[in-house]
Amino acid sequence: MRSKVTVVGAGNVGATAVQRIHQLGYADTVLVDVVEDLPQGKALDMLESGPVIGSDAMVTGSNDYEATADSDVVVITAGIARRPGMSRDDLLLTNMNITSAVTEQVVKYSPNCIILAVTNPLDAMCQNILESSGFPRNRVLGMAGVLDTARFRTFIAQEMNVSVEDVQAYVLGGHGDDMVPLVRYTTVGGIPISELLPAETVDALVERTRQGGGEIVALLKAGSAYYAPSASITQMVEAILLDKKRILPGCAYLEGEFGINGLCVGVPVKVGTGGMEQVIEIKLTDAEQKALEASAASVQELVDVMRNSKAENS
Ligand code: NAI
Ligand code: 2OP
Repeated sequence: MRSKVTVVGAGNVGATAVQRIHQLGYADTVLVDVVEDLPQGKALDMLESGPVIGSDAMVTGSNDYEATADSDVVVITAGIARRPGMSRDDLLLTNMNITSAVTEQVVKYSPNCIILAVTNPLDAMCQNILESSGFPRNRVLGMAGVLDTARFRTFIAQEMNVSVEDVQAYVLGGHGDDMVPLVRYTTVGGIPISELLPAETVDALVERTRQGGGEIVALLKAGSAYYAPSASITQMVEAILLDKKRILPGCAYLEGEFGINGLCVGVPVKVGTGGMEQVIEIKLTDAEQKALEASAASVQELVDVMRNSKAENS
């Protein structure tokens, strides 16, 4: 029997993620959106690509959650996206309300699923989805680090004219401009980047990575990135469905790891059938620890704004 993956939000990121997962061939997918007929139309179009791409998997579009029942993984991309001049944080309260409502339905129909949060601002939404779901922390994780790392790896590969496959990198912290690319753990063919590129070049690539989302928004003008985000979602979904035990940068609820307690932030995690199976703690220098704490403090500010808003409206 094939696995079942639901993607909520049939916009750019959600629909492209379903397209990529369908192409893998081993998971039936359900695409959900509030816009009438939109998920049905996109799902049918993707289903009809099956004979060409060689996928027998089912793709279903729906405006309600019955069709999502007993999903193994649910990816939440529902919400509004950035436009030029907007930061990820500008999306906070609108997307909090959307992800709370979506999570309630997801949990009702798939009480045993793993949820992958994608909606921005990512870390705050991951926290909101975790709290709204009542799930244990291993069953809610967020996608951002794989994307941020992919950008960093792309820029390094371009700079050095080497294969992207040989560049390994880690980005910690929140999915914001103060994310923490871990230069010390960045290698090319196993060789530390500090041995291969001058420090000022690495600094420039780090800065471009931090601004990577904004760079795409400025070019697209009417939306934000979705090809690299959907590829990153697919890698995480595959790690869960195939129990790959991949070590990936993911947003996880920390319970004292890295000195952070009660907050969702990006750290290295082991991803398998259990979802976020383990937080991989690595030793940080004082400067890296400070940068991680500063990034976590930005996430905490958003979480506090959400808590105050919920308290005012209760
Ligand atoms: P989009 O605007 O193309 O799609 C969003 C979809 O969500 C729309 O089709 C909309 O109708 C739907 N939606 C809104 N409320 C809903 C509800 N209550 N239930 C079901 N569907 C609902 O936006 P896009 O580009 O797909 O981005 C989606 C989200 O993902 C945004 O918040 C964006 O900032 C975030 N994002 C996060 C990334 C990450 O690394 N974590 C990377 C890229 C985007
Ligand atoms: C990105 O980094 C908008 O979060 C999204 O492209």
